[in-house]
Amino acid sequence: MAESQTLETPDLHPQTILILNPVAPAVITAVSHRFNLLKLWESSLSKPQFLAAHAASTRALIVNGSTPVDAEILDALPRLQLIFSTSAGLNHIDLPECARRGVSIANAPEIFSEDVADYAVGLLIDVLRRVSSSDRYVRKGLWPVNGDFPLGFKLGGKRVGIVGLGSIGSKIAKRLDAFGCIISYNSRTKKPSVPYTFYANIIDLASNNDVLVVSCALTSETYHIIDKDVMETIGKKGIIINVGRGGLVDEKELVRRLMEGEIGGAGLDVFENGTEVPKELFLMENVVLSPHKAVHTTESITDLKNLVIGNLEAFFANKPLISPVQV
Ligand SMILES: *[C@@H]1O[C@H](CO)[C@@H](O)[C@H](O)[C@H]1NC(C)=O
Repeated sequence: MAESQTLETPDLHPQTILILNPVAPAVITAVSHRFNLLKLWESSLSKPQFLAAHAASTRALIVNGSTPVDAEILDALPRLQLIFSTSAGLNHIDLPECARRGVSIANAPEIFSEDVADYAVGLLIDVLRRVSSSDRYVRKGLWPVNGDFPLGFKLGGKRVGIVGLGSIGSKIAKRLDAFGCIISYNSRTKKPSVPYTFYANIIDLASNNDVLVVSCALTSETYHIIDKDVMETIGKKGIIINVGRGGLVDEKELVRRLMEGEIGGAGLDVFENGTEVPKELFLMENVVLSPHKAVHTTESITDLKNLVIGNLEAFFANKPLISPVQV
């Protein structure tokens, strides 16, 4: 242990930034060119050793949406003043603890909204029209053998309930409205400026829709917002699209219902246990699986890179942050 510690001598670089889990390579490269960016995964130290080794110099931390930032990390980094989260959601960060210690937070709130909204629509069209499934059919050589592919379902005219009409949800609504879907939504408060029907209760949203698109933040109130009762209510033909967080849907219940034919289909970009996708879903043609990539496009990563650099430059120059989070 003592030996490995000597491999990394504490440095006192004035612009030291730590990063604990990889984010987009383009972001890492750009930050490394300008600042003293230290990566946990390239260090020979354990996480506690790494934090201790750089505690005296670290003023900023870059995290992705699955890196928890808790009191333990904050305790280990007493000079920390800024956390940049590459995700829009902030449920992985202990915000009250950050506020108490005067640690500022910046994130990437709007950059990804359009891309996520596009992707949600893509998943829904794929589930309804079986695009991915058709692709497999052709590639496996089944077309000339089995003939026509089974019929899918029309998008236009479907009643779509958006769970969470924030930046992403409202862009999903706008897109699906243009496709001829009938939009309604559930959120904490009714939005006076939108023309869509508001349901204060998620069960009412489910009972009045064919599809639920989940695009809200994960909080203690929204954990498993799509639960057994919601799935029961939307019923056999109901479709669930999740581009939010895995924890928003009771995944075990969803898998069970899909296996029993008690729900119509699902398009999932996120899962409860990160990259551990339930194997039962692999053989279901009414389910579209995606490796948490709704936010990632070449363009959005460039925007993210510029936003990270802009915030860090502002921070080290004692100027106001570009995309601060109010906590
Ligand atoms: C996630 O993983 C944990 C630990 O292996 C397990 O207990 C839990 O049931 C998993 N959750 C789901 C939804 O599969």
